[in-house]
This record gives sequence, C-alpha cells and structure tokens, in this order.
Amino acid sequence: MEKNIAVIKGDGIGPEIVTEAMKVLDAVAKKYNHKFNYTEILMGGCSIDAYGVPLSDEALKIAKKSDSVLLGAIGGNTTTSPWYKLEPSLRPEAGLLKIRKELGLFANLRPAYLYDELKGACPLKEELTEGGFDMMIMRELTGGLYFGERSTEKEGDQMVAHDSMSYSESEIRRIAKRGFDIAMKRNKKVTSVDKANVLDTSRLWRKVVEEVAKEYPEVTLEHMLVDNCAMQLVRDPKQFDVILTENMFGDILSDEASMVTGSIGMLSSASLREDSFGMYEPSHGSAPDIAGQNIANPIATILSAAMMLRYSFDLDQEAKDVEDAIEKVLKEGYRTTDIMSEGKTLVGTREMGDLIVSH
Ligand code: NAI
Ligand code: MG
Repeated sequence: MEKNIAVIKGDGIGPEIVTEAMKVLDAVAKKYNHKFNYTEILMGGCSIDAYGVPLSDEALKIAKKSDSVLLGAIGGNTTTSPWYKLEPSLRPEAGLLKIRKELGLFANLRPAYLYDELKGACPLKEELTEGGFDMMIMRELTGGLYFGERSTEKEGDQMVAHDSMSYSESEIRRIAKRGFDIAMKRNKKVTSVDKANVLDTSRLWRKVVEEVAKEYPEVTLEHMLVDNCAMQLVRDPKQFDVILTENMFGDILSDEASMVTGSIGMLSSASLREDSFGMYEPSHGSAPDIAGQNIANPIATILSAAMMLRYSFDLDQEAKDVEDAIEKVLKEGYRTTDIMSEGKTLVGTREMGDLIVSH
C-alpha cells in the first residue's frame, strides 16, 4: 500500500516526537512492504516565523491533497513568546482551527486507555481498574453550543446572555455512523451520551442514533445521561467501549477520561470526517518547558500514528503491532521522565522511539 502523509511537526517538542512516530511508521512500512511518502508542512509558531501566518495557503493545499495528516503540536509559552502579542487570528492556534475547518473534520476521537504497567499513575482505587480499561470517546466537533448564535443584551436593569444549541439530523447521523464503524473495530458497544430528559437536541440525537444503530445489529447500544456518565467514568470506567456524544459534553468528558488514565504523554487523538481522511495528533500540547532536551514522551504521537494506520488506512494488524510494541517496552521497564517510577529504566525521546521500533 502506498500513502501520502502530510507531516506537521509544529513547535516545542513537536519535531522531536513526530520524528519518533515517523521512525515507527517506517518500521511498519518495511515489515509489511508499504510505502509512506511524507511531505512536511509548517503550521503554528514556526510558520509565523517563516511566512507571517500560522498556516499558509500552500501548506493547506498540500494537507488537502494528502491521504492523512500527522501532527505534533503547535504553540509556545503563552506568556513569554512574541507569537501571543499578535492579534488572535495570527496566533499559532489559529492555524489549528483553520486546518480543522478547511479539512472538514467533524469527529474527534480520544482514547482513554489504562496500561497495566502504569496503573500507579491512575488516581482511581485499584479495585475499580482491575484489568485496566480501554475506551474511545467520540466527540462531535462542528455543531452544538460552540457554533450556535450568541448574544449579550440589556433586558430591564440587567444584562442577559444567550447561547443557542442546534443539531440537524444529518449532523447527528454522520457522527453516529462513524461511532458505530469504530465500535465494529473494537468491542462492539456504543454508549450514546445526551441530556434527553431536558434538551430537544438530545431527544433528536437519541432518535437518530437509534436509527443508525439498526444498520449495526452486532453493536450493543445504550443511552446514558451526561451527568450520570460523568459519575460512571470515575465509578466504573471498565463498562465503556465507545462513548458517542455531542460537542460540549464530549469536550468535558474527554478531559475527565484523560485524567483518569493519569498520563498525558500517552494519550493519542484523531479528527475524522466521512471518508478515510484523518488528522492524527497527541492530546497534549507543545510542552515548551521541556522542548529540545530529548525528554518528551513520544508515545502519544506514536499511538496517534497507529490510529492513522487503523482508521485511515484500514491496516489493523499493523496498528496492533505498534500498540503491542509499546506495551512490551513498558513491560520491560523503560520509561520517559513523565511516567518514571522507582526501579524502572529512564530513557530519552529517541531511545524510547528506538525501543518501540526494535519491537
Ligand atoms: P502541554 O500539554 O503542552 O503541557 C502540559 C504539561 O505536560 C507540561 O508540564 C509538559 O511538559 C507536560 N507534557 C506534555 N506533553 C508531554 C510529553 N509528550 N512528554 C512529557 N511531558 C509532557 O500544555 P500547556 O503547557 O498548557 O501548553 C503549551 C503550549 O501548547 C501552548 O502554546 C498551548 O496553546 C499549546 N497546545 C497545543 C495543542 C495542540 O497543538 N493541539 C493542544 C494543547 C496545547
Ligand atoms: Mg477541553
């Protein structure tokens, strides 16, 4: 298989961690006789320095023509970097918002996985996480409260603010389909999260999700109210496989789920649309505090590359090889600083990448 991947190393630790992910992709290509062609483009602070804009039209064109995008992270120290003295539309994050919009990415996937080897970092009691957990949160990215009309006006003697929330059947259907497709590649369970006891958008959400579920008879569907889901994530995280939810609920629940795993350097993410195209990146930022020191954990980015193999290129075995290699390296006791604990062997960014490649 031959694929064209647009690579955005970005700022801070971005170049270091993406380099390791590319090493792993190359190892996969070699083993299975695939060809991955990389085209590097600039986005974020490095693009501001080179071209005066966080994402050039030229770079966007290359991303659009590729089969998928691998992204490190963008941005600098938000109090000291000169990038943050620019107007908001010229700052590093504006590049990220623009590329998500221009590429039509409407579904954000964030796995929360607890490695047996890293259980010590999980803030939950051990009996709740016995055997680990492995869930995937799928958040709608382009609708709902964050994109509705808003206003603040004077009513009588006080100010009143309004934010409106809307979802169309087609917006719900396309993300629900993606969610069920992903459940088919996993443990075949979808928990659709809403607030259908109060909100009309949630009642429509539930109705459309049930319609879509009929096309996936092998997948078990359950509905859960968002407030209950927030509790269940810390009460019994093992019950979840795919959590399917709208924009704001997903924003909050995915952050909650990531904290339950306890290790930010280990969490991958993907943004998808209807076709196989996707943008894959770690959940964390550019960590300018540790950039250039060969101490960043590259695993979140390597796991994101594994998601690219599975969800964009349909290479399930290849993705599993990468995940298994990571698991083995952890079992052998190798750790970067952020996940280091007593009795383990400390390694740098490059060494961690090499170890994963060698497995
Ligand atoms: P951050 O995620 O970059 O860092 C938070 C803390 O976690 C820091 O102490 C950092 O050293 C540590 N950390 C993060 N990733 C790590 C890794 N792979 N290995 C070891 N330690 C790691 O979040 P922060 O500090 O709030 O933001 C820094 C910059 O990143 C800002 O400019 C922010 O806007 C940007 N950012 C970019 C994102 C993106 O490109 N998608 C997402 C989030 C933040
Ligand atoms: Mg958030």
